Amino acid sequence: MNAPTPMTQEVFKQLRDYIYEKSGIFVPDNKKYFLENRLGRRVQEKGLKGYDDYAYVIKSGIDKAEIAKLFDLVTTNETFFFREPQHFEVVSNDLIPKIIAENTASNRKDIKIWSAASSTGEEPYTIAITLLERPELAGFKKEVYASDISESVLASARNGVYGSYAIRNIPEAYLKKYFTNTNNNYAISTTVKMLVKYMKINLLDDKETRSIRGVDIIFCRNVLIYFDEKAKQKAVSLMYDALRPKGYLFVGTSESLHNITRALKPIVINKVIVYQKI
Ligand SMILES: C[S@@+](CC[C@H](N)C(=O)[O-])C[C@H]1O[C@@H](n2cnc3c(N)ncnc32)[C@H](O)[C@@H]1O
Repeated sequence: MNAPTPMTQEVFKQLRDYIYEKSGIFVPDNKKYFLENRLGRRVQEKGLKGYDDYAYVIKSGIDKAEIAKLFDLVTTNETFFFREPQHFEVVSNDLIPKIIAENTASNRKDIKIWSAASSTGEEPYTIAITLLERPELAGFKKEVYASDISESVLASARNGVYGSYAIRNIPEAYLKKYFTNTNNNYAISTTVKMLVKYMKINLLDDKETRSIRGVDIIFCRNVLIYFDEKAKQKAVSLMYDALRPKGYLFVGTSESLHNITRALKPIVINKVIVYQKI
């Protein structure tokens, strides 16, 4: 099969605008090669003549499965267990005690954390392990929501089997306690899996994000970097609505909500910035 002829500027704009409008992911003018690289093989697999036919299939909406596939292809899913580990230390040492105190004051016994761009599951499972490692949470209802726009990464998360790259930062003791190793395939234990609920949620979709409410902490790390300012503002305002009063939001260490919102206040805990709903 021959590679499709280069994408015309017009088709690039059509696809780029569609992706932006539906997902917030912004492909700048000088990155036509990015869409060609990500979509070239798919155009061949579908037996289409070129990118213009592919753009037609997407924009006409006749093939819903292909729209899901498009998001699988254009998203970047890089992740691993205990990525930016200082965030989990802050949750464990500082936020959990605060949340327990608030629970006691309001006669509750639950904690809810949302991994809002969970990719293949390493982040929500790291959160679940962090919760399981706090004995004070023993009698608590512990819930971790794991959501993503891409169906295929959610399928991997549900499967819960990882290779050596994903697990390289996991402390040895946790690896033994929460995984079964078969020929260097590490399967997450049911104890951890049971805490996690998977959902397909587009962070820019009002209706989809509405299914999550009253969460204590949101992890939205390493995804807002792909959005422009307008999309960031929308996603952050929808996550604001999902948080409990005084709830917390983590973004990636290279990201910031400066100029994006005033409704979430940056606080610094052990050199880590976390945003709190005020
Ligand atoms: C680089 S991964 C980050 C994974 C994890 N949060 C971490 O920091 O390791 C980015 C994820 O964001 C997801 N994503 C991109 N746009 C999205 C959107 N509009 N709504 C929900 N998820 C989105 C992608 O599918 C991808 O799995």
